[in-house]
Amino acid sequence: MTLPSVAPPPKSALEPIETASRDQLAALQLERLKWSVRHAYDNVAHYRAKCVAAGVAPADLKSLDDLANFPFTAKDDLRATYPFGMFAVPREKVLRIHASSGTTGQPTVVGYTQSDLDHWSDLVARSIRAAGGRPGDIVHVAYGYGLFTGGLGAHYGAERLGCTVIPMSGGQTERQVRLILDLKPAIIMVTPSYMLAIADEFERQGHDPRGSSLRVGIHGAEPWTDAMRREIEARLAMHAVDIYGLSEVMGPGVACECIETKDGLHVWEDHFYPEIVDPASGRNLPDGEAGELVFTSLTKQALPVIRYRTRDLTRLLPGTARPMRRMARITGRSDDMLIIRGVNLFPSQIEEQILAEPALSAHYVIEVTRPRALDEIKVVVEARAADAPPALARALEQRIKAQIGVTAAVEIAAAGTVERSLGKAKRVIDLRPKG
Ligand code: DLL
Repeated sequence: MTLPSVAPPPKSALEPIETASRDQLAALQLERLKWSVRHAYDNVAHYRAKCVAAGVAPADLKSLDDLANFPFTAKDDLRATYPFGMFAVPREKVLRIHASSGTTGQPTVVGYTQSDLDHWSDLVARSIRAAGGRPGDIVHVAYGYGLFTGGLGAHYGAERLGCTVIPMSGGQTERQVRLILDLKPAIIMVTPSYMLAIADEFERQGHDPRGSSLRVGIHGAEPWTDAMRREIEARLAMHAVDIYGLSEVMGPGVACECIETKDGLHVWEDHFYPEIVDPASGRNLPDGEAGELVFTSLTKQALPVIRYRTRDLTRLLPGTARPMRRMARITGRSDDMLIIRGVNLFPSQIEEQILAEPALSAHYVIEVTRPRALDEIKVVVEARAADAPPALARALEQRIKAQIGVTAAVEIAAAGTVERSLGKAKRVIDLRPKG
């Protein structure tokens, strides 16, 4: 498969900080970190109380390593102070609100000042440029617009870079295809699972998605695998690049892969200071070790977050295409981990095994039940062709057993029967008794 040639940005197009030395970056981080911790302490009563209880104050922060002595912030802190209690500026200075869907309980609200919105646009512009976008490119945004940060975050970043934006949002899949065919965007920004639903729709309408104008897809908002990257790249003959972010820290554009390496996501460390901690003990882990990603914002005014526990599991790696450190592809969220007869399992591991089987598609769900004392899983996956051989299910069961060490029942579903998401895919259906 040949992918379109997409040149990395010339050095002259990069911001100076993108090519700064590690020492210059560390100096900037320390200066900004001192400001951010002081800003949160002085203006957020809830965070100040946590610091007082832990016996630390902003003056104790003399080096980047001292941050490890400060208390964490978690989603529960945002819930406890809902809606605006973690804001560090008067509400009138907040120009934009976004909110999480609240599928797991009370919603949480985040806010942005004018300066926060400017930084966000700058960082999404930086991400799109790293992914191979250029001023003048047409960018089709199929992340949802609204309270979710994906649509508006991508939109203003693409405008900031000087692109022509198609604010399509998620859904209306037939129309997505029509607009891509007619307006000929070079870049698409969309969740990886919905990208595949759009590719299916191309084929349903009798068009080969490999012939489209798209050169680069910038995909994130949900866990995905390198197997899924290969699938997207093969089906659409375009590059698939990983972008990461979360509302509490900003939205999309906290970290992004570079087109020339596609080897993990460079964290925009001049605005977000990353740490990896052991999810159980909260102790810091050295670079290279897998654990929970924790972020401290360095420039945010409205909602500074100090040591925010993302629950996302990854590793920090040295920089390659940029001096800023990379985070490895997220393997999953600690909340999404299943324990099947003592074996820890993430949906992404199942995805890898499905996509290793050429006759299977990437449309799947994992059903979890507890018929007796122990959890059991069933993988429901669509075959690519209507006449899938019956042995396919057994083959995947064996593959999962051999590669992951868990017993899963596999059911091959008819094409089009696994529900498509229009944004973040729901991979796990939990049918276990509640309580
Ligand atoms: O999903 C922001 C976003 C929009 C990122 C568009 C990228 C593209 P939330 O809705 O707050 O924000 O969800 C954040 O989504 O903690 C991860 O668990 C997951 N996530 C986001 N990007 C990735 C990624 C947006 N590239 C949560 N890989 C995060 C894996 C991701 N998981």
